[in-house]
Formats: sequence, structure tokens, C-alpha cells
Amino acid sequence: MPDKSLSGEVFIPSDEVLRHVHVRDWDKLIGEAEKDLEGFWSREAHELHWFEHWDKVLDDSHKPFFKWFTNGKTNIVYNCLDRHTQTARRNKLALMWEGEKGEFRSFSYFALKRETCRFANVLRSLGVQKGDRVTLYMGRIPELMIGMLACARIGAIHSVVYGGFTVEALHERLEDSQSKVLIVADGAYQRGKIVPLKAIADEALQRAATVESVLVVKRTGEAVNMESGRDMWYHELMALPIAGMQCHIEVMDAEDPLFILYTSGTTGKPKAILHTHGGYMVGTYSTLKYVFDIHDEDRYWCAADPGWITGHSYIVYGPLLNGTTSFMYEGAPTYPYPNRWWQMIEKYGINVLYTAPTAIRGLMRFGEAWPNRHDLSSLRILGSVGEPINPEAWKWYHRVIGKGRCPIMDTWWQTETGMFMITPTPAVTLKPGSGTRPFPGVKMDVLDEEGKPAGVNEEGFLVIKTPWPAMMRTIYRDPERYKAQYWSKFPGAYLTGDSARKDEDGYYWVIGRVDDVIKVSGYRLGTAEIESALVSHHAIAEAAAIGLPHDVKGNAIHTFVIVKAGVEKSEKLIEELRAHVAHEMGPIAKPDSIQFVDSLPKTRSGKIMRRVLKARALGQEPKDLTTLEE
Ligand code: WTA
Repeated sequence: MPDKSLSGEVFIPSDEVLRHVHVRDWDKLIGEAEKDLEGFWSREAHELHWFEHWDKVLDDSHKPFFKWFTNGKTNIVYNCLDRHTQTARRNKLALMWEGEKGEFRSFSYFALKRETCRFANVLRSLGVQKGDRVTLYMGRIPELMIGMLACARIGAIHSVVYGGFTVEALHERLEDSQSKVLIVADGAYQRGKIVPLKAIADEALQRAATVESVLVVKRTGEAVNMESGRDMWYHELMALPIAGMQCHIEVMDAEDPLFILYTSGTTGKPKAILHTHGGYMVGTYSTLKYVFDIHDEDRYWCAADPGWITGHSYIVYGPLLNGTTSFMYEGAPTYPYPNRWWQMIEKYGINVLYTAPTAIRGLMRFGEAWPNRHDLSSLRILGSVGEPINPEAWKWYHRVIGKGRCPIMDTWWQTETGMFMITPTPAVTLKPGSGTRPFPGVKMDVLDEEGKPAGVNEEGFLVIKTPWPAMMRTIYRDPERYKAQYWSKFPGAYLTGDSARKDEDGYYWVIGRVDDVIKVSGYRLGTAEIESALVSHHAIAEAAAIGLPHDVKGNAIHTFVIVKAGVEKSEKLIEELRAHVAHEMGPIAKPDSIQFVDSLPKTRSGKIMRRVLKARALGQEPKDLTTLEE
């Protein structure tokens, strides 16, 4: 038994859990994949439908531009929908949805396919073709899923912009992707209030030129401005004969783009991470199946937002590829009361709950009485993603929500990886706060500054050393940046941007970002974006943003600003600046604090030294100041 030999506090899988799992001997599968990477992924890919078989599983002749399942022909939507509608699963629920106000909607696989086809026909009638970009900007409503699937069905590339972003963030993404069509909701409910998505989009559209058509989904029914010749109601188009129920599916090459998703990186503007139909499909299918041990009778709930990668991979594609029943909830976890989530778990009989540490910590604050009021016995497996989970939150989640029965899948991955990379399965012995070891076929390591493997428990750069099918293929329209950012620091290794350590049992402990990315409530934000939102205000000359530890959010945003000559430094200006950032980028980017300063620490080449600001704010001595200008 390897379990007894593991050091530290461990949680051993129960017999009940072990009896259920797809693969009991996880180490064996890891070993097999290590010996034969292509064989492992080929077997996984064979569980899905291909119009034409691939020639090669992995083509690494143009590193770091890897290709998977070369010349294979498929369409991820065929595997998400059509494949199931040809079996008894056609009547199975694909999606159950609850609105913040308590409304309920559901779609069988048959119905989800039909709605997807109808909407795909609408998009085609608007001239959307294979390769065109379509931006979607909505709250958590079924139309977002239908919209994404409709794009993919006809080979269009979707670009989902998180509904919590606002004007400039949306504008930037519309412009960079050169989207032809924008699909937007009139508004979204959030804690009983309405976020006016269409009005925000109108402002962004004034700044963006490429959008020809705007489709508006009615969610709130509030009055919106409809610009004639550009804006159309979704429900009106869906009622027209053009929205026929059959829709020819585009046969896609495995390497054809499926979507782009913007994420924050080390420097500058957010970058469009590109994923494909073939490899991404195999990776998300396989990881979800093993890690959340998906079986046909399951009711699965990933509480993320489809606007982020977690939602793409594990609300939309992974669950549908596995033919599971997913639950989606529109609103806030504590609205109207802190038992909302627990109530819905009981009401819908959820078996798997996948969420983020920040949500756990937020709900923990309200005490055990709220979850204890509900029957949570349907839960079998719990999941965590987005940031390191502190052992205290892990144990609360395990004891109070999982009643000590449910293993916690702490999954480490990124927008770029597309799928889980470091993760346990329910058959693996857990240590609170560690994602355990890499998924089969994935080789990772922790390296020191020179690129040598770090010692046991020594902190270093987390890297990935083997290609994997769901890996990003490039940064859309910027392949040079893809190479420079991810593949240049250490030869042959993919740089994750995280620091981590590996313990004596080979378990990974992710510490956090080492670059200029701040994880706020699990959301990934770039210091550069926050800073540019600040300097877009007329009173501000320069700005710097850093993340500092926060009990619930993981990190809080602290900023330093230099005002322009003659501007008065006042409380009023601080409030104005916070509101300005919320308006330009989104409420999630609103700084927790703004401090007026007369200068910022910079390198001789003029780059802001955020680590110096951070060390000072934490009352520490900044290390290595040799490059500091002053
Ligand atoms: C962090 C989210 C610790 C990490 C899927 C990574 C985690 C970044 C974990 C990617 C985890 C994600 N433990 N840290 N289980 N999962 N992270 O692109 O810093 O929004 O690099 O993808 O989140 O964030 P992204």
C-alpha cells in the first residue's frame, strides 16, 4: 500500500468510492501512459466519434507548435450532441438550469441538439462561416451554451467574454478577435440587481468597428436600445423559418480552431488562447471522465462561469462529451440567503460539485448551520480549482459539505492547458492543499532558475515537459508571443507562470503566480490591464497594481497612482477611480485600495518593479535591488 508510506496528513479513499471508480489502479494507468503516451491518448480518442481516422496521434515536428490527431476529421459538437441523440441518451437531461429568481429550465440531449441546430442556422443565415469569430457576452444562461455549440457546429470560432467584464475589456476582445457577430443578453441578474449587458455592449461597440450584427437574448426584459440594421432579437430570429431544426454539421479537421478565450498574461494586453476541435475534445472528455468519475446516473454541477476556461471545458464541452446531466445556476451563491447552493444540491440531487476555494471560504464564513439544514447525501465527489486551496478550507469542505465521505479533487490547470494537468482521482490518497500528481501522460517538474530540477520541497518554476492533446495551439494571430512567453525560458519545457514545490512523495504543491497575474477570487487578472484602466482616467499619470493576500478572495488588488500635475489627491478621487476601473474593466478588477505616491520603483529600462512594491506593502525587505533605478 503506497498510502501508508506517504508523509504528512493524508485521506485514503474509502471502499465505497473505490468500488465505483472507472480506474482503481491509477498508478498503473500513469505508468502505462508514461511508457506509451500516444497509445494512451489514442485509446481515449477511440471512445469518441471521428468522421475520418487520424494519421498520427502526435506530430511534434514543428515544436512548440504541436499537432494532435493529424488529418483526423471530427466536430466536437457531433460528439457532444449527435452521438448521444442516436442512443437512449436522447431523452436524458443534458442541462438543468435555475435562474437567480428561481425559474427552472431543462434540455434533454435531443432538445439541446435541436436548439443548437436552429441557432446554427440563424448564424449561417447571417453569413457566419467556418473560421469567422463570434463573440458571446452573457450571464450564466442556457443561451450561452447553445450559442457556443451553434458556433462550433458550423465551424465558427467562439470568443466568450465573461459577463462580469465591462466596456473596455469587451471592446478590446471584440477588436482583437475581429468578431463579425456579437451575441449579447439584454442584461443579467446578479444579487437581485440587473447588470445592463446590452448597454455596456453598446458603449463597447462604439469603439469597435468589425461587428456587423448583434443578436440580443431577452433575459431580463428591461428596455434596451436596438440599433436598426445591426441589432436583432434572438427569439424573433429563432421563430423564423430560417431557424430550421436540421443543420448540416461542418466536418472539422482535428486541428481546426474551436474557440479563442482571452486571458491575462505576463505583460500587456490579454491574449487570445486558441483551442482546437480534436485534441481539446479528447483531453476534456478523458480528464472529466476519470477525475470526477462520471457515470450515466450522475448529476454534475460545475459552479464556474462559462466565460472562463473552467466553464468552457467543464460546464460545456467535458460534461456533454461524457453524456452527463449538468446543472447550471445563474446567480450568486449567497442570494437571497447563504443556503442557496446547499438548497439546490438537495433539490436537484447533485452528485458532483466542482467549485473554487474562494467560494468555499466565502460560504464558510456563514457557518455550518446553513449547509446542515440540507440533505447533502447525494454528493459523492467534490472539486476545487482556480487557486491553491488552504488546508483549512479543504477540511471544512471535506467535513461539512462532503460529510467526510467525498474525496476532493483539487485540479490544477490553466486556460492554456485546456484540461486538468495536476489532479487526483477518487482512487488517489489525498493531502489537503496538494493536487497530488500529474494526469497520465503529463510530465511536469519544478525547476530552479538555471533550469535544473529543484530539490525536494524546494520552491521553483512549475513546467510541463510533455505535450498533451488539449494544449493551446498558439496565441491567436501572434505565434511569436506564444513561443516567447511559454517556451523560451527553459528549452523544451512549457512555462506555466506558477511556482510550486514537489514533496518527498512526488506530490505537487502549487504556491502561486510568479508573473504579473493576480488571481482575485479565482479570476485571472493582469496587473497591466488594471493599470491601463487607471491611467485611462484623466487625472492619472502612472499606476502600478499588485496582489496582496486576502482571507476570502485569495488576493486583493492594491494600487499605487501618480496624479497629473495640479490634480488634488482626495478621497473623492479615489472613489472615482474605483468606479472608473469597474466601468472600464469590470467590478472584479476594482482595486481594494488606491494609494497616492510621488514615484514608483522602476528598473533602469523603465519597468515598474512590482515585487518591490509588494515586499514593502508586506513589510518585508525587497530582495535583489541591483536593477533598481533610484
Ligand atoms: C491557478 C483556471 C493552485 C494557477 C483553470 C494557474 C491553481 C492559474 C489551481 C490558471 C489549483 C488553477 N491549485 N492554483 N488547483 N487551479 N490555479 O487560466 O496559478 O484562469 O496558473 O485557469 O490558476 O488560471 P486560469
